[in-house]
Parts: sequence; C-alpha cells; structure tokens
Amino acid sequence: AIVSAEKFVQAARDNGYAIGGFNTNNLEWTQAILRAAEAKKTPVLIQTSMGAAKYMGGYKLCKVMIEALVDSMGITVPVAIHLDHGNFDAAMECIEVGYSSLMFDGSALDIEENLEKAAIVIEKAHAAGISVECEVGTIGGEEDGIVGDGELAPIEDAKRMAALGVDFLAAGIGNIHGPYPENWKGLHLDHLEKLTTALPGVPLVLHGGSGIPDDQIKAAIKLGVAKVNVNTECQLAFCAAMRDHVAEFNANEAEYMKKKLFDPRKFLKAGFDAITESVEERIEVFGSTNKA
Ligand code: G3H
Ligand code: ZN
Repeated sequence: AIVSAEKFVQAARDNGYAIGGFNTNNLEWTQAILRAAEAKKTPVLIQTSMGAAKYMGGYKLCKVMIEALVDSMGITVPVAIHLDHGNFDAAMECIEVGYSSLMFDGSALDIEENLEKAAIVIEKAHAAGISVECEVGTIGGEEDGIVGDGELAPIEDAKRMAALGVDFLAAGIGNIHGPYPENWKGLHLDHLEKLTTALPGVPLVLHGGSGIPDDQIKAAIKLGVAKVNVNTECQLAFCAAMRDHVAEFNANEAEYMKKKLFDPRKFLKAGFDAITESVEERIEVFGSTNKA
C-alpha cells in the first residue's frame, strides 16, 4: 500500500534499524526496487529526484506509475512515493500531485530562509498527510545537479529544524553523493552522536549511502540514522551488469540475434535484475528485513 513514511521511519528509529530510500529512473527500475522490498518484507521509499522526475515525464506520471505498479505487482509492503532533494516549488508540486512523502532541500539557502521555507512546506504537507524530510548542513559531492560542500550539520540548526516538526532530518556528517573519493575520511560518527544527543528520538537520514563501508553504516544506524538513501550503487550495479551482458551478446551475436534477444524486455533484464539484487543486499545491511 502507498503510505506516508513517518510511521515506518520512526519505528525504525525506535527499534535500531533503517529503511532504504532508493532512487528510481524508470518503470523497470521501479519494478526492481519494489520486487526487492517485497521479497525482503520491508517498508521502502521509492524516490524521484527533480531531474529523474523530469526525465520520466513529470511528478504526476511518477506518482501514477508507482501507484499502479504497487497495485499490479500485488505489493503488500508499505511504500512511500518520495520526492528527493526537492526545492520549494518541487515540494509544492508534489503536495499537489499527491506524493506521500517529500524532502525539501533548502541546504543551499541560508539557514533562516531554509527554516522559513521548511515551515511552510511542513505545514502544507502535514495538512495533506504527507511526511517531510528537511536538511541541515550539506551533503558533499553532486547528485543530479544538487551540489554541496559537505558542511557538518550545526547542532543549533538541527534543533531549530526539528522543532518545526520535520518527520526525519538529513544532516551532513561527512557523507558525499556519488562514489566516495579515495582519500575520504569516513563518516563523522562523533558529530552524529552529538546530533542524536541533541535530538533524542528524531530519525536522521543518511544521504550518499552508496559506497560507505557496511560497518560505518551500521554504526550510524546505532546512533540514530533511520533512513539511508541509495542511488549511485544501483546505477553502478545496472551499468556493470549491462556491460557484461553487452560483451556476452557481442561474443554470441548470431545466436542471440536468432533468439531475438535484442527485444529490450530481454536485452535489459540483466541490468534490472542486478538492481533488485543490490537493493536486497542493502536492505539486509540496514536491518529492515521482515519489518513490514
Ligand atoms: O538522495 C539520494 C542519495 O543521497 C543518494 O546518494 O547516489 O551516493 O547513493 P548516492
Ligand atoms: Zn541525497
């Protein structure tokens, strides 16, 4: 069923595991994530960045597609349709269109404007039964045009954002979007601990979930992270599987052409199967198996 995310994310926070927020890019990508969540019996957030939603044909189409897939695939686990890193206008549009969850990312604004806009988003979204994630500090690196310098979330900013009634809070703790550089220093778990102490019980969100060593992810979950965002990892899994498949196809061209394996439903299958596999593997690490 399509639901808002605050209940299952809070349950994760209260019980020491995390829910995966997985970014989607198209129909089969969405099927791959849903299949994994259903197999693992976990709640899940299917997320669209502003760029991915534009690529797919808009928020309305994304919402209708995810909803229809949940229905036609017979998905029984709770699924939130979530806007990832939305600006103010995107957040307003997703409320209008009927997303069940959203992130307002005002981290590029100064903190007063971030809080001001967040307050408006939270009020409107909550009135419509939609869960809200906001961000303080910044996530390093770049995702779909969203660039951050990796500023650690100031404790005072986090407290003020939490006081607005945000459902879960993305806080910069040295995490980075995209692949982690060779010389990355690791998560600032000491800073995460300060945040958790200042915000008891508030579910925190770990962005840039791809490529963080599992032991650091598990440590972060112990310290209050209750949602982990994953995008690049699925893209890399898809790409690796497709590169192998293309090589195999090229090596067996005559036979594969005869078997009509150029049909996109067959040609792309290896890539999407790889996404399901990596989502299932992440869910295991996050500890949310059998929590639906
Ligand atoms: O908002 C999405 C995530 O933070 C994705 O980060 O691509 O590094 O997994 P990632
Ligand atoms: Zn992110």
